[in-house]
Amino acid sequence: MYYPEELIEEVRQKSDIVDVISSYVSLQKKGNNYMCCCPFHGEKTPSFSVNRTRQIYKCFGCGEGGNAVTFVMKYENCTFPEAVKILADRAGVELPQPEYSEEAKRRESRRQRLFEVNKEAAKFYYIMLRSERGNKAKEYLDKRQLSGETCKNFGLGYAPIRGEELLTYLRQKGFTDDLIRDVGLAKIDERRGTMTQFWNRVMFPIQDISHRVIGFGGRIMSTEDSGPKYLNSPETEIFDKSRNLYGMNYARTARTGNMILCEGYMDVISMHQAGFTQAVASLGTAFTPGQAGLIKKYTREVLLAYDSDGAGVKAALRAIRILRDAGMSGRIINMSPYKDPDEFIKNLGQAAFQERMNNAENAFLFEVRMLEREFDLNDPEGKTNFHSQIARKLCEFSEDVERENYLEAVAQKYHIGFDNLRKLVVNMAAKTGGYAAQTAERPKSGIQSKNRNTPEENAKRSQRLLLTWLTDYPQLYVKIKGYLSAEDFTVELYSRVAKRMFEDIEKNTLNPASIINMFEEEKDQSEAASLFTTNLPELESEQEKEKAFHDILVSVKKNSYEYYAARSGVDLSALSKVIEGKKALEELSKTHISLN
Ligand code: CTP
Ligand code: MN
Repeated sequence: MYYPEELIEEVRQKSDIVDVISSYVSLQKKGNNYMCCCPFHGEKTPSFSVNRTRQIYKCFGCGEGGNAVTFVMKYENCTFPEAVKILADRAGVELPQPEYSEEAKRRESRRQRLFEVNKEAAKFYYIMLRSERGNKAKEYLDKRQLSGETCKNFGLGYAPIRGEELLTYLRQKGFTDDLIRDVGLAKIDERRGTMTQFWNRVMFPIQDISHRVIGFGGRIMSTEDSGPKYLNSPETEIFDKSRNLYGMNYARTARTGNMILCEGYMDVISMHQAGFTQAVASLGTAFTPGQAGLIKKYTREVLLAYDSDGAGVKAALRAIRILRDAGMSGRIINMSPYKDPDEFIKNLGQAAFQERMNNAENAFLFEVRMLEREFDLNDPEGKTNFHSQIARKLCEFSEDVERENYLEAVAQKYHIGFDNLRKLVVNMAAKTGGYAAQTAERPKSGIQSKNRNTPEENAKRSQRLLLTWLTDYPQLYVKIKGYLSAEDFTVELYSRVAKRMFEDIEKNTLNPASIINMFEEEKDQSEAASLFTTNLPELESEQEKEKAFHDILVSVKKNSYEYYAARSGVDLSALSKVIEGKKALEELSKTHISLN
């Protein structure tokens, strides 16, 4: 559903950013800005700043930034049209009824039907648990020390012994057997007809982040019962096991600055009952990159509360890799002597768990400790192999400082001479082609970002920095417009933003918040927002700032020159850009641009 740009702009204008954000978090006025602790990453001192004049926000800690619409999208984790709708309702702006294509309508209504079946089924199980027939299940949940409140919160239920009861109930509500099958609640067998998936089990409805029931897990109540301990719904059109997490519908608003990743449903439930509402679990399958992505929307810090047995350790090691690949840090909570968080909490209680959380082990040190188990350290050969495995792992750090710090920690812990281990690492790097990435010197302009980047990424970064500079110092545009045009921004989206920005500056109507709304796709919007909120390096003196600005401008120009030069063989219009670019570059190198 796309609304016309004017309408979106009207909604945005009627949604003052300070008012909107204040309705979610409490802001404090500091000079021209409003500040608070960033709702998108964990922090103790406020670095989240909201600017009323520009109608944008920016976190100096995690780099998140945008306008009122993107804030709502992030906070509510919703799509652009949904965020516009929320703001429109709030501001009393009437939006046209969505116009879906026939195809989209059909698909949407089918999905709605599937959600409805699940919701009714959950209701049925819920009622069953609280009826006479649910007594055994009630006893079971009692035995597992779940309060009535907790059971209600998680919508726990009971699937009665006779499966047909669910079918009768759902058919009465007007659902066809095909639909019941398609949502994974039944199988249709030629001989025996429709048979339900779950019977005589305690039922755990699995919800997505919007609290919609997307599937079920069912547990047997006694080891004498038949079938696997847990049985889950199969994947369906609305149940993607790799992109959802159990408990996320509550965890996403826990705002504790971290999330706890567990293995099982019961773990999540006991953790929430003990006040750790940031706990989530995967859905009967191994942790996936899709789930890491989901967590990353809310926090970068994940505490692993996996089982302490061999399978748990293996799963934790896999999860660490996935988290690392997703750019997150994992720490491991030691559960011993108990098997899992559920048992730990039951035996030692909430405070002890909190203590274990505080002492959670760094993922790298955990990996090394687990590696150690594979070697016989009393045997010289085993010891040597262990040390070279450590060296190999240390090579994975691209940042020198980080690698050195880990080197030091590991050397100390395993009583290896620091210099010896270091030599081993250097040799290993020479043998295997260097560290994971080269660390480049980082000039003060901020052009080179923290991690190793491709030239293309660096060029993009310079272009972003330049636009952020111009947002902060629009008066600079007049001084540099002789050298710079929108085409110098070689990324299409950047160039569109630059064009609009330059026009707005000329008209004296620069408004970053409204430029973001030029774009309809969420991806494009957050990319546009990033153009105004790139982290500028902290520079003290005016002189340093001028130097940095000059460097960035030259770098953008140089990239544009190279970009068009590479195309000038095939594209004639590029040739004139090349000639112009070369001239501008030469002039620029001799020109001093003052910031005022
Ligand atoms: N699981 C599953 N099928 C099984 C066993 C387990 O899908 N046959 C999944 C479930 O999602 C379960 C998780 O793996 O929540 C963890 O399983 P396990 O550690 O065996 O159980 P616990 O979480 O300890 O559950 P409980 O305390 O109820 O025994
Ligand atoms: Mn358990």
